[in-house]
Amino acid sequence: MSGQTLAEHGDTGPATGGRIATAVADLAELMAGGAVVVLSGAGLSTESGIPDYRGPSGRRVRATPMTYQSFTREAAARRRYWARSHLGWGTVARAVPNAGHRAVGQLQRTGLLAGVITQNVDGLHQAGGAHGVIELHGSLHQVICLECREVTTREELDRRLTAANPDFHAVATVVKPDGDTDLRESQSAKFRAVGCRSCGGMLKPHVVFFGENVPMPRVRACFELVDRARLLLVLGSSLTVMSGRRFVLQAARLDIQIAIVNQGETRGDRYAALTVNAPLGTVLPAVVDALRKPHPAPRGAADASGLPCLDWR
Ligand SMILES: NC(=O)c1ccc[n+]([C@@H]2O[C@H](COP(=O)([O-])OP(=O)(O)OC[C@H]3O[C@@H](n4cnc5c(N)ncnc54)[C@H](O)[C@@H]3O)[C@@H](O)[C@H]2O)c1
Ligand SMILES: [Zn+2]
Repeated sequence: MSGQTLAEHGDTGPATGGRIATAVADLAELMAGGAVVVLSGAGLSTESGIPDYRGPSGRRVRATPMTYQSFTREAAARRRYWARSHLGWGTVARAVPNAGHRAVGQLQRTGLLAGVITQNVDGLHQAGGAHGVIELHGSLHQVICLECREVTTREELDRRLTAANPDFHAVATVVKPDGDTDLRESQSAKFRAVGCRSCGGMLKPHVVFFGENVPMPRVRACFELVDRARLLLVLGSSLTVMSGRRFVLQAARLDIQIAIVNQGETRGDRYAALTVNAPLGTVLPAVVDALRKPHPAPRGAADASGLPCLDWR
């Protein structure tokens, strides 16, 4: 990289054309040394049709996320949640990984990535070929019983909810982040939630709700990854939520380089050696291509043989 520092590509608005090409080359050069830890957010999945919270797609649907306290204490809130989310589940279940997810999988197969941490709950990283992904906020594909802690699949719950609500024929007009939907009170009022198949206890999607903490072992595993990283690469997160931002702060404290690809500003921009304000589905495949090309030995790389080109699929 030719010495760019703070927000070189991000501070003057969205990157286009030639500026994207320059940003891609710079990002590829930063990544070529390996030991890259990815921290992804909702922006990586918008191109798969799942809206984020704070980007343009999220603002359009004005989501108010469910809190743990409302969910566990208010039967009506719980019924509303399951009715809406039963309706929205199809969108999440049918969503397919986009070019950005696939590029992360490809980067991982080259050995350049030391780990992938995602704030997303949609499972699309794994569907896009990534493995060992730490799902910081859990997964919508799983359901947990708050009594006996049994974890079951959302697919199974979906079948049970469909069977318990034969007359529920609402149609989702807008699907919100986390698979929530717009639904009139009159439509959710008669919805029947179901209990744990083993103990009858209260079921909850196996995701971290607002007002709930991420389990400590999971947080520790993320810090361990970040502490050993050479580069922390943020993909599609506004870093508004401290749960993800703390890893950027940690990297900054440890003088670990940070690069951010995000449309719009983030709360980590000031710590970044490079910010790229452009769509992930464009940038990431181009970075994969750039890393495939013959490349000068990355600065500081132990092996001067150059390209980390183990298995490009
Ligand atoms: N897909 C999901 O699983 C999903 C969806 C919505 C929210 N959430 C949850 O809500 C929280 C939201 O925080 P967050 O920081 O992840 O999301 P966020 O909504 O705060 O930020 C997303 C950022 O991505 C940018 N963006 C959107 N599309 C993009 C694209 N194609 N290319 C580049 N940038 C793009 C937006 O402009 C925005 O700045 C997370 O903790 C997550 O658990 C998850
Ligand atoms: Zn149970």
